Amino acid sequence: MKASIIKKYGDIDQFEVTDIDKPVLKKDEVLVQNVATSINPIDYKARQGLLQSMFDWQFPVVLGWDVAGKIVALGDQVTNFKIGDEVFARPDIDPVGHNGSYAEYTAVKEDKLALKPGNISFEEAAAVPLAGLTALQMLRQLNLAAGQKILIQGGAGGVGIFAIQLAKMFGAVVATTTSENNTEFVKSLGADIVIDYHKNTITEVLSDYDAVLDTVNDIEGGISILKTGGSFVTIAGTLTKEQKEMSDKHIMTGWLQPSGKDLSFLAKEIENNNLKIVIDSSYPLTIAGIKSAQKRSETHHARGKVIVKIK
Ligand SMILES: NC(=O)c1ccc[n+]([C@@H]2O[C@H](COP(=O)([O-])OP(=O)(O)OC[C@H]3O[C@@H](n4cnc5c(N)ncnc54)[C@H](OP(=O)(O)O)[C@@H]3O)[C@@H](O)[C@H]2O)c1
Repeated sequence: MKASIIKKYGDIDQFEVTDIDKPVLKKDEVLVQNVATSINPIDYKARQGLLQSMFDWQFPVVLGWDVAGKIVALGDQVTNFKIGDEVFARPDIDPVGHNGSYAEYTAVKEDKLALKPGNISFEEAAAVPLAGLTALQMLRQLNLAAGQKILIQGGAGGVGIFAIQLAKMFGAVVATTTSENNTEFVKSLGADIVIDYHKNTITEVLSDYDAVLDTVNDIEGGISILKTGGSFVTIAGTLTKEQKEMSDKHIMTGWLQPSGKDLSFLAKEIENNNLKIVIDSSYPLTIAGIKSAQKRSETHHARGKVIVKIK
C-alpha cells in the first residue's frame, strides 16, 4: 500500500511516500481503506522525536491518528461493523509505530470506530476524531455544567473549535483566545468573550472562572483566573508538583482516550447540525503534499484542521 513514512526523527525532509505492507489484522480489528486523514500537533512532535519517552517505535514509522474511510476487511471477532461501512476513528497508537493513518490502509480496533455521519464528506470526517474527542473528554474532565464560565484557550485551533461549540451545547459561558483576524470566526462558533492574546493577557480580562481548558501551555495564567474550587486541565503543558497539589483548585493534565462510543456521540451532534467542522486546508498524500500539510500545521495558525486526501 502507499504510505508516507519517516526512517528517522527530524524535520519535514524526512518524509517519503512509498509502498509498504498493509497492516495485518488482529481478531478485534477492521481494516479501513482511508479516504482522508488529518494533521495534529502530535504528528510533528512525534516526527521531531519528542515522544520517544512514550513510544518505542521502530522505523520506518507511519504517522497520523485520524482515520476516515471504508471498511474492507474484518477480524474474526468483529460484530458491530461490516465490510463497506463508512467509518471514522482515532485508532490506538501502535506501540511499534507502523499503523498510522498517513497510509492507504489502517487497522482499527472495533471499539474505537464510529459510523461516519451521512451529511459530511470523508475529508470533513477526518477532521473530527482526535480533536473532537479531546474537546469532549476535556470538558467532561472539567465537569463543566450549564451556567458555568469556561476559558477555552486557542479557540481557532483544532481542539478549540470543537470545545467552544460543545461548551455552548452544555450551556456554559465561553471565553476564548485568538488572534484578531479570528475574532468574528470564534464568535460565529458561539464564543461569548474573545481575547486577542497579542494585545491582552487572560489575567488582564478574566477572573473568577469555573473552568479552563489550556491548549497553549499558559498554565500559570489559567490557574490564576480560576475561582476557588475551579477546575483547570492542560493538554499542552507539564504541571509542577506544586500545581498538581493545589488544595483549593482542581489542576489536571488531560490525555484523550480513543473511544468509538464518544465518537458516536460527536457523530450524532454533527448529523443534527449542532457541530460545525472547519477545514483550514487540504493536501494530497504525496511527498510535497505531506510536507506542506505538516508545515501548515506547524505554523500554529491553522484555522481548523489541515487535511490530507488519500484516495
Ligand atoms: N493531550 C491530548 O490528548 C491532546 C490532544 C489534542 C491536542 N493536544 C495538544 O493541544 C494543543 C492544541 O492542539 P490543536 O490541534 O488545537 O492545535 P492547532 O490546531 O495547531 O492550533 C492552532 C491554533 O492555535 C491558536 N494559537 C496559537 N498560539 C496561541 C496562543 N498563544 N493563544 C491562543 N491561541 C493560539 C491559533 O490561533 P490564531 O491563528 O488565532 O493565533 C491557531 O488557530 C497542541 O499542543 C496539541 O499537541 C493534546
